[in-house]
Amino acid sequence: MCGIIGYIGKKNAIPILVNGLRRMEYRGYDSFGFSIADGEGVFTFKKVGKISDFDSSLLGLKGKGQTGIAHTRWGTHGEITEKNAHPHWGSKKNIFVVHNGIIENYQQLKEELEKEGCKFASQTDTEVLAHLIEKYFQGNLEEAVRKALKKVQGTYGIAVIARDDPQKIVVARLSSPLLIGTNDGEYIIASDPNAILPFTKKVINMEDNEIATITPDNFFIMKEREPETLEEGEAEVDKGDYPHFMLKEIMEQAETIANPLRGRLIEEEGLAKLGGLEPVKGKLKELKRLNIIACGTAYLAGLVGEYMLEEYAGIPTEVDYASEFRYRKPIINRDTAILAVSQSGETADTLAAIQEAKEKDALTLGIVNAVGSSIVRETDAGIYNHCGTEIGVASTKAFTSQLTVLALLALFLGRQRELSLVMGQRIAKEIKRIPKLVEKTLTVDAQIKELAKKYKKYDDFFFIGRKYNYPIALEGALKLKEISYVHAEGYGAGEMKHGPIALINKNFPTFAICPSDSVYQKTMSNIEEIKTRKGPVIALATEGNKDIKKIADDVIYIPKTLEMLTPILSVIPLQLFAYHMGVLRGCDVDKPRNLAKSVTVE
Ligand code: AGP
Repeated sequence: MCGIIGYIGKKNAIPILVNGLRRMEYRGYDSFGFSIADGEGVFTFKKVGKISDFDSSLLGLKGKGQTGIAHTRWGTHGEITEKNAHPHWGSKKNIFVVHNGIIENYQQLKEELEKEGCKFASQTDTEVLAHLIEKYFQGNLEEAVRKALKKVQGTYGIAVIARDDPQKIVVARLSSPLLIGTNDGEYIIASDPNAILPFTKKVINMEDNEIATITPDNFFIMKEREPETLEEGEAEVDKGDYPHFMLKEIMEQAETIANPLRGRLIEEEGLAKLGGLEPVKGKLKELKRLNIIACGTAYLAGLVGEYMLEEYAGIPTEVDYASEFRYRKPIINRDTAILAVSQSGETADTLAAIQEAKEKDALTLGIVNAVGSSIVRETDAGIYNHCGTEIGVASTKAFTSQLTVLALLALFLGRQRELSLVMGQRIAKEIKRIPKLVEKTLTVDAQIKELAKKYKKYDDFFFIGRKYNYPIALEGALKLKEISYVHAEGYGAGEMKHGPIALINKNFPTFAICPSDSVYQKTMSNIEEIKTRKGPVIALATEGNKDIKKIADDVIYIPKTLEMLTPILSVIPLQLFAYHMGVLRGCDVDKPRNLAKSVTVE
């Protein structure tokens, strides 16, 4: 989390800005900086280190001015260097920006701007904003900011000043807090009320999609509401060289898992840093129970989360289909938190279940991909997946980013409780390795394609797994059903002998998820039971396991990792199997029949 602050009024800005930064230092303190409109232009000062060690008298006569912005950084993109400290400016040094949040599509915007001749000085996502606003600047700063933000995906609280439109600060907010403090013809803006208190108690809490223009005489707020007409092609996110969005989104999972991890793991302290939970950190520490609610694939992510949260955070956790939760009489009280998991953030059943929980005073949290969506606005706090827009109707990269965020949450809550420093470090270290292990897992695509050819004529499949991989068995079955319309059932492997095994014969293959984990031997026994009845078995095993080849008809290997993280890897071959089966059977894998990407009706 970073801290931003701005001042416009009758006093010299620097002492007010420096004091405000000091009051936000807890949010981020690897570097700081400020830009002051000093009457001749804009004076900028940036430094690596803590603001508490800074003596503004060293500036001498420089930086005298009544309009300024400042920033204290906790880096998410780019090392801790002076160049990466905020404020950032455009090539013409007209526009100066401080930013709190993440610009998800900054790489693409940066490439476009560089093609137009922009020269970048830093590795940050924020600098893209400065160049973009400068590109659209034609004398009116708020108009330039408005046009630039239309191109941006992500979260932001920003403050902007311009050399060529002085005596003005423009601020904008999307899912990152921003307040305007007023005090008799003086204005202060900040991302944290702590920085405003010494100055005034009268504040306006900006809302999402609002842009405010502040001058020494007044301020006005504009709400971005007019509908946009998508240009041809703009609605279609680029498929690149892939034949389908689903395959592209499966194959980009190493990156879409790295994104939600960015800036959120403190390995040396074995901690997860989840800025979106900061406002409710105290309540989470007192939490006694957690109730995860979701639908479809998101519900299955919740089931994996149950194992993680109970094993590593020691919190009793229940998981409900949102459509069921709202009609049963759930026991909810003030020590219960509801955690809604939703890619779209608009699923009607999940939204309704949140409302039900709020009636009973429960703390409501969200794990959501769509920035600024209804579930984000309805919940008290939450964590973004940051996996980018998911176009394929079947949830793939959103699912693995949900699992990743749930692992971070288990680490966060665990370290608030009994989870030791050493175990926290071990988990953080292993989570950090996951993007590389995903990359390695994705290399099975060619093998899976051959497997789909071998099994494309079969009309019935079982998927079985235990413990962390029981929900993955359910997800594998759901994926195959919704993408290739083939009948598939997921079961806990231990359940086979309680009925389902009656269906086993040579025409009823079973995917058995059987990594070398704490329940490996148990699952191997279930595979033996199936083979005894002539059922074909496709086993998913940990690389190096030769024994399993002796009994399974086909074996797909995944890398070894912590048991709680295997689901992120084991689901990938199942996603690919569903995809290739769907293609071979001539299905529309990106828009399967009868389905919708966001189920906004009950
Ligand atoms: C996933 O493959 C399905 N398309 C569907 O089950 C989806 O997961 C479910 O509708 C929940 O959507 P949400 O994550 O946007 O809330």
